[in-house]
Amino acid sequence: MKINRIYTSDCLDFLKAIDRKSIDLAIIDPPYNMSKASWDTFSNQQSFLDFTYRWIDALLPTLKDTASIYIFNTPFNSAYILQYLVEKGMVFQNWITWDKRDGFNASKYRYTHGQETILFFTKSKEYAFNADDIRIPYESTDRIAAATKKGILKNGKRWFPNPNGRMCGEVWHIASERHRQKINGKIQKMPHLTPKPKEMIERMILASSNKGDLVLDCFVGSGTTAVCAKALGRNYICSDNNPDYVELAIKNIEGVPNNG
Ligand SMILES: C[S@@+](CC[C@H](N)C(=O)[O-])C[C@H]1O[C@@H](n2cnc3c(N)ncnc32)[C@H](O)[C@@H]1O
Repeated sequence: MKINRIYTSDCLDFLKAIDRKSIDLAIIDPPYNMSKASWDTFSNQQSFLDFTYRWIDALLPTLKDTASIYIFNTPFNSAYILQYLVEKGMVFQNWITWDKRDGFNASKYRYTHGQETILFFTKSKEYAFNADDIRIPYESTDRIAAATKKGILKNGKRWFPNPNGRMCGEVWHIASERHRQKINGKIQKMPHLTPKPKEMIERMILASSNKGDLVLDCFVGSGTTAVCAKALGRNYICSDNNPDYVELAIKNIEGVPNNG
């Protein structure tokens, strides 16, 4: 298969056609079984899990021994996915909580849902992680401003803040696209139901791959993974089974400069 292409394909057919051990990073934003669209609707939880385990089984052989994967889902489904990946011998790195700055399914009988989970696993203990490329701003700005001048005494040594910010934690406070697009609090119709914020996908690509690496996404939707990979000088190979979304993704990638 050619790289730097977005294919119209069912995820299983696509993954079976990918060369074994060719992928450096997989960013997977699959159905969640929340019945938000026909593609997100399953007859029951077991059929959803069977589908999920099938694409995981097809995905794992495509990964290099040094590869990383990020998998989105609800916290509930992620508990099952985590266990399955551990059984398959994958190495757990982080349970990332995405605080979407947005609530949905408001209920008076339990807390409003406002988070999603991103499981970060690697194929082995040898993998890329560019922690310095994803530093985030310090929160205590006054203390940091003072420390920048004089340093802070820690264990007998003077500590100075890193000018690029602090190390990124595993709780990500990033507004969802749905939330960003609201006008006066009203949800707007978007060309794709669930586009992921570029900022979040960029963070995964910067941390877990290097320029020239190959990034895979078999549920690419509006093309966010491909757009970010191209902009960051990585190669990509992506698919979605909805031809309208593939057309949208190809349109979104046009004109993105390749910073390779
Ligand atoms: C959560 S969305 C991905 C959104 C994407 N991350 C973005 O930023 O736009 C999941 C996507 O999976 C696709 N999909 C669902 N079932 C599929 C299957 N069996 N094979 C391939 N794609 C599928 C849907 O068309 C949808 O675009």
